[in-house]
Amino acid sequence: MSFFPILKIEDVFASLSRKAKRDVTRVRELEEELFSKQADKGRIALRLREILPTTFDLPYIENVIFPALVTAAYKGERLSLPMIDPERFTKEEALPYFFWGMLYDDWKPNLEEDGLSVFIQGYANRGEDNHRKRIYYSALTPDLYEPMYKNKITAFFEQLFRPENANKPLMRQYLDTYFDLYWELHLGVTGNDIPSEVRQLGESFNTVLAYVNPIEDIVHDNYVRVRAFRQTLRNWIDQKIEDLLGGEIPEPQKTFAYYWLKNGEQGPDFRRKDVIFECFHNFVALSQWGNTIYQIMSKLSIDDGEPEIQKIFKEIMSSNFERADGTPFTPLDRFVMELFRTLSPNDGSISTLTETGQLESLYPRYGYITNPHKATSEEPRHWTNPTEFAPDRYIDAPTSDQIDEARAKEIGFAQCPFHQRSMEVKDGRKTELTNSAFGTVYGITDGQTYPVCDYAGYAPFGFGYRRCPGEQFTIEFIKDFLRKVWSDGIEFKNLRLENPERVPVGPTAVVDDNIGFTRST
Ligand code: HEM
Repeated sequence: MSFFPILKIEDVFASLSRKAKRDVTRVRELEEELFSKQADKGRIALRLREILPTTFDLPYIENVIFPALVTAAYKGERLSLPMIDPERFTKEEALPYFFWGMLYDDWKPNLEEDGLSVFIQGYANRGEDNHRKRIYYSALTPDLYEPMYKNKITAFFEQLFRPENANKPLMRQYLDTYFDLYWELHLGVTGNDIPSEVRQLGESFNTVLAYVNPIEDIVHDNYVRVRAFRQTLRNWIDQKIEDLLGGEIPEPQKTFAYYWLKNGEQGPDFRRKDVIFECFHNFVALSQWGNTIYQIMSKLSIDDGEPEIQKIFKEIMSSNFERADGTPFTPLDRFVMELFRTLSPNDGSISTLTETGQLESLYPRYGYITNPHKATSEEPRHWTNPTEFAPDRYIDAPTSDQIDEARAKEIGFAQCPFHQRSMEVKDGRKTELTNSAFGTVYGITDGQTYPVCDYAGYAPFGFGYRRCPGEQFTIEFIKDFLRKVWSDGIEFKNLRLENPERVPVGPTAVVDDNIGFTRST
């Protein structure tokens, strides 16, 4: 999946015919009609309703199911350099069309009036030199992790791994406390101060992302709930922002919203409505943690995990795993990076495409293309041992601070694809947010550079100007997870449950909740 998963049309048609228990011919006829030149949306919506397993209302059929059926998704190339053309493969509104109703009342994008996320904005509209991205990233630079966020994260893992939770399915417990962490990080609010509608909306949002297929009742019901509670959520976030600005939230500098307000100054590149929007659009971003944790637990599981990864984990944790020794990353950093490269919990960078030719289509065809992450990371032209689990590959892999004008020339460019520009933050820190020649944004605080591996062979967090601003934060999150596992002698194991609960742990990821832990301390 990419961030917002793309649905496979054959899955929709399969569930149509299976669930409706009608003959395949009717479905085929409908399919033909959808792609015919005489397509009439109203008529198709009515006919679709006839063969749906559940009688959904027409707006849902027209705005969710219909767009899902006419969406085309294409496989993009495995990149040689970590850059995607910002114009031809644009991020502007690059989100499978049938999801818009989750974000906007009118079922379609309304970025100007209702707010937006950097995630759905093309490079050209982000302000000078990716300004919006830099503002977003100002809340997540590595220097902030230890003083501002670490305690919240370690407390989260502390309660997750408390002895009473041993030998029980872990993901349910993760999900039950996840939104406390989520809102604490964004707005400094947790526990009973989070209204139940706000919790429910978050759970519904993640359930839609996990199950995806709009013909499934579970998707429909949760989609509708997101729409019902969204205004309540927006009002609540707005009030919390007011509290933050008015000094009502203790330690405001320990929240993401604080930095977005300080550095965006509620100006055109990060309006107050955009802060609100980012606060809930991040449901998508942070929901990937659940899936990542589940996958890492599976790899470390003593019965059916991967012995090679477990061996390397033990070796690293028995060494000076926090010392970089003059290299860009510590051994623990490298281990986590290699987990991300090989697991690639987010499988592709999504862009929209423009059709060639001048003729207007009779009805919109939504086209998306995805540049793959795992396949790019494992492309043999990037590494001599592309499929091996080898954390030390990052000892001398290129980093963002090395990709400068000189390197651009070496590669054969006449000039830098992205000239280096720096933005100083306005929140009192001595931090500048700069970029590599590939457009990758990274930070320098008090003279210390915090680079990322800027190489097409390391693709789990995307590429260049549109690369994940939550990457280093996520690496720290997983490092704290692993430190906890190691320090408490935690071992994961398959609980061999007869009927494990199916839990939505991330986009397109509904898994058996069948992994538990034991602890030696
Ligand atoms: C397991 C965790 C995560 C993974 C695997 C991941 C992966 C990615 C990838 C691959 C992209 C590029 C998508 C594209 O180009 O289409 C991306 C973009 C983005 N990520 Fe993450 N991410 C994670 C966590 C986070 C977190 C925790 C945050 C915020 C706190 C975040 C915020 C964003 C944003 C705002 C973008 C859009 C960047 C842009 O377009 O400039 N992500 N992420």
